[in-house]
Amino acid sequence: MKTLFRALSFFKDNATHVYLLFVLMSITILTQLILPWPIALAIDCSIGKKPFPYVLSMAFGNISKVEGLIILGSLVLLTYLLHIFVSTTYNNLLIRTGLAGLMRVRLALFNKLLQLSPRFFSKMQHGDVVYRASWDTFSIQTLFQQGLFTVSSAVLTIGLMLIIMFQINLTLALIALGTVPLLVAVIRGFVNPMEKAGLSARDADSSVSVSVEQSIVALPLIQASVTESREYSRFQEKAFTAFSKRYKQHRIELIYQGLIMSIFALGTAFIVVSGGLQAMEKTITIGELWVFLSYLSQFYGPLTQISYAGSTISTAFAGVNRVLEILDAESIHDSLIAHQNNPVPPAAPVKKKINGQIRFSEVHFSYENNKTILNNLNFTIQQGESVLLIGPSGSGKTTLLMLILRFYEPDHGIITIDDIDIRQMDPKDLRNSIAISFQEAFLLPGTILENIAYSVPNADMKDVYSAAELACADDFIKKLSKGYHTSVGEGFSQLSTGEKQRINIARALLKKSPILILDEPLTGLDEENQKKLANNLKLAVEGRTTLIVTHNPDMFKWANKILKFENGCIKELYTPNL
Ligand SMILES: Nc1ncnc2c1ncn2[C@@H]1O[C@H](COP(=O)(O)OP(=O)(O)O)[C@@H](O)[C@H]1O
Ligand SMILES: [Mg+2]
Repeated sequence: MKTLFRALSFFKDNATHVYLLFVLMSITILTQLILPWPIALAIDCSIGKKPFPYVLSMAFGNISKVEGLIILGSLVLLTYLLHIFVSTTYNNLLIRTGLAGLMRVRLALFNKLLQLSPRFFSKMQHGDVVYRASWDTFSIQTLFQQGLFTVSSAVLTIGLMLIIMFQINLTLALIALGTVPLLVAVIRGFVNPMEKAGLSARDADSSVSVSVEQSIVALPLIQASVTESREYSRFQEKAFTAFSKRYKQHRIELIYQGLIMSIFALGTAFIVVSGGLQAMEKTITIGELWVFLSYLSQFYGPLTQISYAGSTISTAFAGVNRVLEILDAESIHDSLIAHQNNPVPPAAPVKKKINGQIRFSEVHFSYENNKTILNNLNFTIQQGESVLLIGPSGSGKTTLLMLILRFYEPDHGIITIDDIDIRQMDPKDLRNSIAISFQEAFLLPGTILENIAYSVPNADMKDVYSAAELACADDFIKKLSKGYHTSVGEGFSQLSTGEKQRINIARALLKKSPILILDEPLTGLDEENQKKLANNLKLAVEGRTTLIVTHNPDMFKWANKILKFENGCIKELYTPNL
């Protein structure tokens, strides 16, 4: 129920449409209920011997049987046209509102995605998130259209029909009603297995899309290792699981639908016999039997809708839950809430200007409970100092940088900037005061210029060029077909690792923040460019507190301090003797 309300809350902004939909739905149902009556009158009064009803003689005077037939024929046409018009308008608005809700949930999901903490993605695969954002979001629309409107329209139709059926003939109405408990029993028995089967089919489908995504990323490796057939068999397994899970779901649905249809058949058979007998005894007119039978076909229609809605809604619920799992996931801000062992001090008053002194006091950190990555770190980096972080791969250098950005919280200990606990700062202020080039270079779709100016969109072109020159990127950018306006596209495969890296460094240098962080900035660069960049950085870091992960000997010459990582500790902390 909670899931339903959460799903429907995405339609709050369309409340007027929702009310209008209920009005249109009611009119659609009413016109549908009127449809068989002119035909029944034609059968009983024009073909049969019953006099025309009072309303007709009032309106048209004394009419012959043929005239009555023509009038009733016109009425049939009119009611049908009215019904078609109203129901089309209703369905049009229903689809429009449903799609608007789908759009809103996608927006909410993307907004959430932008705030997810890095921990989230260590637990969930990218392809799965993509599947949830693009396919599972449809479930919200399904729940609105099928869950809310199809079901309430069916319930209303059945209710009104039952009232009319009881007016026409008690016995026949009781037979029709008698099938309802059987239907309810079948629906109840099948809802849970259908929901379970739907959920596991979705998971299997999602894992197919995860596989495709991962294989595309690793395609060069696969082709170079000539492991296409191995990857194919691996995918075959996933595809087969998806096949069996979906097939199982449909099999359950088919059995369910078969049972429902059998119950309908039973009811119809009883009514044909009982109605036929009554018509022979003239306790019911042929026209009334016609109305009854046509209601009966329409009576089972909405009931079928309700019973099918069972399976559709179960699958939709599974999808909605997968969407809600992301919407309810810990956002980066939630993950910043106090560590159990490490209470957060109250927020500090906003500081206009950050100078950039960084201090670690007794900082312990682990990604998972049992594996310490950083063990009791204590050091201070003065404002404007350049510090090199060295140590074997996997020793926690990148992790330390992530802690300064507050992507993760220390288990114990305090990190301060200008003597303020970074947990007391607004994370946005903190991050605005740091420029970072990540170990893995990131490019977003757009031009090279847009990529460099990503954090400073209205930067002076002069500054962009000089940042690119310092980052040793200017030369290769100028040689590209459209220079700085070359689009890196979505695959950005045309740039080498070193080139991507230099664009990332230019981006960091352009953002003139008090703290500069460069994680292995020389990766992928040739010796000459390494030397050049190492020397250029000496100029770039002037006046900024800088942390660089590197083993480059040229930088050792001008750095103020070196922090050496070993087994989770910082072993050495010294100023090179220059
Ligand atoms: N998101 C993560 N979840 C769990 N463990 C991680 C994560 N990121 C890194 N690690 C582990 O933390 C250790 C330190 O990693 P990292 O800081 O990247 O090392 P370095 O940058 O020094 O090479 C490694 O053992 C790595 O496997
Ligand atoms: Mg690293």
